Amino acid sequence: MLITGGTVVTATGTHAADVLIDGETIVALFAPGHAPDDAGQQVIDATGKLVIPGGIDAHTHMELPFGGTFASDTFDTGTRAAAFGGTTTIIDFAVQRYGENVLDGLAAWHGKADGNCHIDYGFHMIVGGVDDEALKAMDQLVDHEGITSFKLFMAYPGVFLSDDGQILRAMQKARGNGSMIMMHAENGPAIDVLIRQALERGETDPIHHGLTRPSELEAEATRRAISLAKVAGDTPLYIVHMSASEALEAVAAARDAGRNVFAETCPQYLYLTLEDQLGAPGFEGAKWVCSTPLRSRHESHQRDLWKGLRSNDLAIVSTDHCPFCFKDQKELGLGDFSKIPNGIGGVEHRVDLLYQGVVDGKLSVERWVETIATTPARMFGLYPRKGVIAPGSDADVVVYDPNGRTRISVETHHMNMDHSAYEGYEIAGAVDTVISRGTVLVSGGEYHGRKGHGRYLRRGLSSYLV
Ligand code: URP
Ligand code: ZN
Ligand code: ZN
Repeated sequence: MLITGGTVVTATGTHAADVLIDGETIVALFAPGHAPDDAGQQVIDATGKLVIPGGIDAHTHMELPFGGTFASDTFDTGTRAAAFGGTTTIIDFAVQRYGENVLDGLAAWHGKADGNCHIDYGFHMIVGGVDDEALKAMDQLVDHEGITSFKLFMAYPGVFLSDDGQILRAMQKARGNGSMIMMHAENGPAIDVLIRQALERGETDPIHHGLTRPSELEAEATRRAISLAKVAGDTPLYIVHMSASEALEAVAAARDAGRNVFAETCPQYLYLTLEDQLGAPGFEGAKWVCSTPLRSRHESHQRDLWKGLRSNDLAIVSTDHCPFCFKDQKELGLGDFSKIPNGIGGVEHRVDLLYQGVVDGKLSVERWVETIATTPARMFGLYPRKGVIAPGSDADVVVYDPNGRTRISVETHHMNMDHSAYEGYEIAGAVDTVISRGTVLVSGGEYHGRKGHGRYLRRGLSSYLV
């Protein structure tokens, strides 16, 4: 397969080149028109378009059990939707909850995913109960299962929360085996007090989900995680779904001090707000209940997050894709915001939503590729197999049309959700062709992929560890 006439964009630069794919692998880049005449039985014309590495969404939750229900996308529906949006790899979170066995949790996740994915997939492991057995399992996952990152929670007491002692032990273990700790940084016990007090005052609407999770409690937890990682011997630490300026400041300070601290944000925090979405009339705001919550438009969070993306204090944009239908799922929290399942779906829209940042002059086109594909690959042990257009890399390629337009709507999206968090958004730019390991999945809006094409990725250690 030969992709001709396009502009190849990588994290390090932009140049006109023809890309030759043999089987599942990129084998050569040629100056435009200089590929040998017999190269490429299948030619894809990318004239006027950008040729980028397939998107890597390092934070998804297909079929996550949460709040008495399950995230509404299966690995089948969710990875197909991802493909439509130019994402060719996801890293999903396998789950061990308090009282469960880590290896059982991993087996259950393979049971959900294996044979059902349209694109390649890897796993992080949520460790919801740090004990001797779980700590031992962490070594096994790194050594034998290709899982080199572990998510801990400072929130959700009784379900996922680890106390500071448990966090420290897991961080020490990670420092020993070379893996990365990912942190849900919110002070859960303090938040639970605020939630109880709000409900006692009769404040039950969705906006109170946000008001009871103040940004200061994200910042406090972020600072505490950074301190604990230092005490553990500078364990690599990655703060997930960052939404607050104060938390970002803490990460920036740690990075300035030379620490192994990284962070991601998500499109919802770059575009949506507490007042406009979570505060929508009636129960409507339930669509945007997620944790960390959307932040106030009257503060500087969004501006600071975009700046963090430019300065690399925020290294990655993931979706935290965790969809719940409004009907029957979000509605579990009618009359009590604390019972609304937490999560927003968006795996299909990340590449487009961040390209809008390029159009708006907030990111360079190279930084776009870096934050949606290259850095996720390097951060989570998939580079250079994924995340770059270079000879030897998997042929995961997206042809992106900068002159196209994308309109986001529940009417046209492919995620298994009965609403869209971005309903009516119009974006300059559109996914044109999506290729996964040399197979065209999407072309001209039509789907050619299949369930089962996606393979499990055994990941190596992060490229960022020192
Ligand atoms: O609200 C969210 N973020 N739901 C998914 C679970 C998590 O904490 O990432
Ligand atoms: Zn989380
Ligand atoms: Zn998440």
